[in-house]
Amino acid sequence: MRILILGGDGYLGWPTAMHLAARGHEVVAVDSYLRRQLCREVNVRPLNEVPELDKRCAIWQSLTGAKIEYRIGDLTEWEVIAGVFRDFGPQAVVHYAEQPAAPYSMLNRHTATLTLRNNLLVTANVIFAVKEFSPDAHVVKLGTMGEYGTPNIDIEEGWLEVAHKGRHQKFLYPRQAGSLYHTTKIMDTDLLWFYVRTWNLRVTDLMQGPVYGIFTDETEKDERLLPFFNYDEIFGTVLNRFVVQAVAGYPLTVFGKGGQTRGFLNIKDTLNCIRLSLENLPNQGELRIFNQFTETFSINELADKVKAAGTDFGLNVDIQHLENPRIEAEEHYYNPSHTGLMELGLKPHYLDDKTLAEMLQFVIQYRDRIDRDQIYRQVKWA
Ligand SMILES: NC(=O)c1ccc[n+]([C@@H]2O[C@H](COP(=O)([O-])OP(=O)(O)OC[C@H]3O[C@@H](n4cnc5c(N)ncnc54)[C@H](O)[C@@H]3O)[C@@H](O)[C@H]2O)c1
Repeated sequence: MRILILGGDGYLGWPTAMHLAARGHEVVAVDSYLRRQLCREVNVRPLNEVPELDKRCAIWQSLTGAKIEYRIGDLTEWEVIAGVFRDFGPQAVVHYAEQPAAPYSMLNRHTATLTLRNNLLVTANVIFAVKEFSPDAHVVKLGTMGEYGTPNIDIEEGWLEVAHKGRHQKFLYPRQAGSLYHTTKIMDTDLLWFYVRTWNLRVTDLMQGPVYGIFTDETEKDERLLPFFNYDEIFGTVLNRFVVQAVAGYPLTVFGKGGQTRGFLNIKDTLNCIRLSLENLPNQGELRIFNQFTETFSINELADKVKAAGTDFGLNVDIQHLENPRIEAEEHYYNPSHTGLMELGLKPHYLDDKTLAEMLQFVIQYRDRIDRDQIYRQVKWA
């Protein structure tokens, strides 16, 4: 298949590009380096040094003989995305290219409007480019479990059958996000659903939970192929952050009571979910939604797991409950379903002692690069 990876320099985009190229697909990765630029602007950097796409593609080719093409450009600009579609004629588009950090979107007016503009414009341009150049292409879009929020009823997989005064209709499951970033994902879903109904697009919208980990089958070939591993409060995801905190001797930063519960997944499973979605097409005119996570944990449970794993490594790990800078329920009901990807054949990598040990080992190797000032900035929601 000819597959475009939008956001191909990112934490998930680059491993996805390698995963698909290793399986014989023709891959073009597109990125504007927005993530790198925003990290510089807020003065954070990943734990590891990550070469830019020209170098990574060359390393990949020298190791495997397979090619990953890349283009550098801002996908909010129509000429950029139109040019890529015209040249490549993709059969599938994996759309990761958004500002992905909830805390970044809540910093100030500038970061809020950048997030809105960037995320909605890229999604709109993807829709228009598919319509104009590749109307049969399958769009695989990354949404988030955060679109649903934490309702006091079971979360279904994208849709809810509503009975009202004796009549029935299926609607998008009600969504109420907890940050502006998550709200842009809701707006993306609405845009996609509108154009699926209007232009018969073929879309899979993946409601993904927070991802952890750094290793995939392809990164084993060379350390320079590893994706970003951010541990700061703005771009780091919670488990990756806790592992770095454990190694740095920094008490694990649990916000509030720590009963906040989410669905998590290993980065290896993200790649498998994307591949399974690509291999099993939805119909033309269908918006297919999967909940993409493999198991749920509360923040307290994650902290306890990291503490136990760290102790096995001889680390002295404390857990600290900090005043919650976010506005969110700290204790709540959470029961989301997630059967769709399992039915397509997903075999989850669960969070076990071995996975935590691998992550700790990786971080210990880079411990001299940990900057403690990045760990807790108190980005306040209010
Ligand atoms: N990492 C997670 O835990 C997680 C969880 C749920 C959903 N997601 C979603 O998955 C996607 C990928 O997340 P990630 O963690 O890899 O983030 P990331 O920031 O590492 O990757 C996104 C990439 O898109 C690029 N990009 C953004 N706007 C662009 C534009 N206008 N033009 C060209 N490139 C642009 C960025 O430079 C970056 O490299 C995002 O949409 C994110 O919201 C991530």
